Amino acid sequence: MENKKKILCVGLVCLDIINVVDKYPEEDTDSRCLSQRWQRGGNASNSCTVLSLLGAPCAFMGSLAAGPVADFILDDFKKFHIDISLLCEHAQCVLPASVVISNANTGSRTILHMNRNLPDATAADFSKVDLHQYKWIHWEGRNAEEQVKMIQQVALYNNTLPPQQRITISVEIEKTREPLYQLFPHGDVVFVSKDVAQHFGFHNAEAALRGLYSRVKRGAVLICAWAEKGADALGPDGVIVHSDAFPPEKLLDTLGAGDTFNAAVIFTLANGGSLQEALTFGCTVAGRKCGVHGYDGILEK
Ligand code: ADP
Ligand code: FRU
Repeated sequence: MENKKKILCVGLVCLDIINVVDKYPEEDTDSRCLSQRWQRGGNASNSCTVLSLLGAPCAFMGSLAAGPVADFILDDFKKFHIDISLLCEHAQCVLPASVVISNANTGSRTILHMNRNLPDATAADFSKVDLHQYKWIHWEGRNAEEQVKMIQQVALYNNTLPPQQRITISVEIEKTREPLYQLFPHGDVVFVSKDVAQHFGFHNAEAALRGLYSRVKRGAVLICAWAEKGADALGPDGVIVHSDAFPPEKLLDTLGAGDTFNAAVIFTLANGGSLQEALTFGCTVAGRKCGVHGYDGILEK
């Protein structure tokens, strides 16, 4: 039964319109792309894609508008066998979209994101979730105040259960937005980005972990990925764990590398792996992702 339980990711799904170029365009020029494609995007949605490819039963919770773009997104969720029974439909809203310039020469991704009016899932939406179905719930930090209320619902549920049956809570603090920092003390596992670390004045992952660890709750693990430098983690024993990055032969596409890393780390920890195993696997799968367009082939050696 415990093995059948799902990993739930709460956060954004959007449309990514990806323009692959071999040279970043000059402003006010008219150039051709190597290729263009639509892709289902959003951090939590991307992490679900990777969890599903890794063979973990997983579910997505977030908001969706209606219409042809939403249909494209729904079809893609289905293609990856991601449980979407917790999608909140907002028929009157516009689906958020990103225009992405993906430089196949450097792997860089430049994102222009727009969310006109689609509201995030709320604590009221979350109160309808049947928590028995999940062994791990991950929140992509967004509407943090509501997300804290969701996490408190899980904490109450966990209090009724013996430790081995409790839901593990992870949160991602990726954007440098003050309200997101209230999430630090709410995760058993907290992912903090290089961006946020630098915003706090830290120049590497180890310094960020040491400097930010006082913000997490007792016993929690804080994890910080640092692009080509790999990733570090710090748990309650005070020991820094590190994995180098595993760069692909050629960096092609780093869009969603962080979401891939998070998914592979969660996958490992949810299956009883150690922190070192989780970081190494996270960097391995994220590295493979950087060597392919999208997510096809991220499991191949
Ligand atoms: P994002 O910018 O998508 O949030 P991160 O910078 O957090 O991604 O990187 C997540 C992980 O992806 C890193 O720990 C690393 O393993 C891998 N990664 C990202 N960029 C590169 C790169 N340029 N070369 C090798 N690995 C990378
Ligand atoms: C990648 C991503 C994209 C999306 C953007 C939103 O991490 O989730 O799929 O367009 O970030 O900020």
